[in-house]
Order: sequence, then C-alpha cells, then structure tokens
Amino acid sequence: MTKIGKPGRVEGKRIAVIGGGSVGPGWGNGKAAAVLYAREGGQVLVVDQNGKAAIETVDLIQGEGGRAASFVGDMTDPEAAAAAVAEAVSAFGGLDILHYNIGISTRGGIGDTPYEDWRRVFSINLDAAFHITQAALPELEKNGGGAIVYITTLAAHLNGPYPYVGYETSKAALSRLSRSVATEYAARGVRSNTVVPGMIDTPHVQAHIATAANAEMIAKTRAGQVPMKRQGTGWDVAEAALFLASDAAGFITGVDLRVDGGMAILMGNAAI
Ligand SMILES: NC(=O)c1ccc[n+]([C@@H]2O[C@H](COP(=O)([O-])OP(=O)(O)OC[C@H]3O[C@@H](n4cnc5c(N)ncnc54)[C@H](O)[C@@H]3O)[C@@H](O)[C@H]2O)c1
Repeated sequence: MTKIGKPGRVEGKRIAVIGGGSVGPGWGNGKAAAVLYAREGGQVLVVDQNGKAAIETVDLIQGEGGRAASFVGDMTDPEAAAAAVAEAVSAFGGLDILHYNIGISTRGGIGDTPYEDWRRVFSINLDAAFHITQAALPELEKNGGGAIVYITTLAAHLNGPYPYVGYETSKAALSRLSRSVATEYAARGVRSNTVVPGMIDTPHVQAHIATAANAEMIAKTRAGQVPMKRQGTGWDVAEAALFLASDAAGFITGVDLRVDGGMAILMGNAAI
C-alpha cells in the first residue's frame, strides 16, 4: 500500500539509459528519461557513444543532487554492450532497469533505400538492442527481477506520409523482440514493454527541420496533425517509460504503450 510522503517511483533502483545523451540542446527522449528516473530516486548509468552528451546528462542529475555515472561506448559492439552492464554493476552493485532509447532513421522506401542504410538502421535500432538485452538479462533477473523499456515509434505500426522502410521495419521488430523477452522471462521476474512515441518535439527533430526554409511551418503542421494539437515532449515519453519501469506496472508485460496525443486513433488504428 502506498503512503503519503512516499519515496520516489524508482527509489533505489539501478538503471541504465542507453542513449541517455542528446544530439542537441534541450530535452531529448533519452535525456529526459535519465533525469526523471534520477528525480524519482533511481541511480542512473547514462550510456552513450557521445561522451560529451553523456556527461552533460550526468552533470544535470548530479547538479540536482541525484546519483549518476556515465559510460561511453557504441552499443552496436557486443563487447561495449557487455562492458556497459559491467559498469552498472561496478558503479551501483547491479542493474534493475534497462531503458533502450537509441534509434535512427533514414528516409526511403524499398525501391530507393541503399542496403548500407538498411543495415545501419537495423544495427542501431535492433542489433544493439539484442546485444544489450542479452548482456543485461542475467543482472536483471537477480534480486527478484527487473524491467526493460524499449522506445519504438508509431511508425512501427502505422504508415506516415513518407516511407522510412528501414526505420518502420526495424522498430516493428524491436516491438516483437520486447514481446519475445516478455514471454521468455515472465516467470523469471523480468518484465519487458515498449513506449510508442508519436510526434515528439525533440532536439533531433528540431535539428532535422531547422535546415528547411519553412521550419516554423513544419513544426506547426506536425502539431496540427495531432488530435491534441501539440507535439509531445521528451517528458511525455519519459513519464510513460517511468511508469512501465516502476513497480506500479508490476503486472504489466509485453505491452506497447502509445504516447501520441491520440494520433493512432486519427489514423484509424488504436488497436496497437
Ligand atoms: N522525436 C520523435 O519524434 C520520435 C518519435 C518516435 C520515436 N522516437 C525515438 O526516440 C529515440 C531517440 O530519442 P532522443 O530524443 O533521445 O534522440 P537523440 O538522438 O537526441 O539521443 C539519442 C542518443 O543516443 C546516442 N546514440 C546513438 N547511437 C548510439 C550507439 N550506437 N551507441 C550508443 N549511443 C548511441 C546518441 O549519441 C544520442 O546522444 C529513438 O529511438 C527514436 O526512434 C523519436
């Protein structure tokens, strides 16, 4: 039973946020998640291939009095993924929550996507998830079990206006990976779920549209397409992940939780 004055929602949990930096100033999904976990009592290992970005998030957490450490490595390398888990164990004594945020996209359909683009997208969106999950599961299983949250995308389930075949397909497979892990580990105490963001206003998206002559209009159009008439934020995504990672979601596994302001309903498919 919860009580007034209760501790944080992930109090004392040992957490690795994979891709906990940000490509630019402001609040990306991974950075917001790392800071929110720490505000809710977690000890956070910020894992990123960009050391400067990882340290920036760690500094923010420590500046608020939270506990965090960084690990720099490319998670497409299985040895680096194993080393990231080993770092969490060495820094915090174990690992309770794995949050997988990294993901990239390249625009193009089946007819015009070079195989190199397809492979690069799959290696980051899916292969790296396989490596870090495999490395993390033995730790997550200890101490009565743990939780995994993968960040996917609405595009894994529904078509947008432009084709992103590698992104759509790799993220759909990531969602399926989550369910496979959920099934295999349900009786072993590890839960696995995904957060499915729709249109989110992050530094990555801002940098992408900033190069267009009509950047402001694109941002307005993105917001206008959402039933709630705004883009989501990194905090919207982080709050959903926090819930799924926390003991409050202790009987929830194998779900895909949309954070899309109603976008999937508008697109005629709220069944995901
Ligand atoms: N912004 C949106 O509209 C939107 C919508 C749907 C889903 N998403 C998902 O959100 C996630 C990204 O969110 P963000 O705002 O934190 O992005 P971001 O690009 O700002 O941050 C991701 C971090 O991951 C790191 N990274 C990338 N590849 C790595 C690798 N191989 N090894 C280690 N670190 C690596 C980057 O250095 C970066 O700091 C992606 O999975 C993306 O598919 C975003």
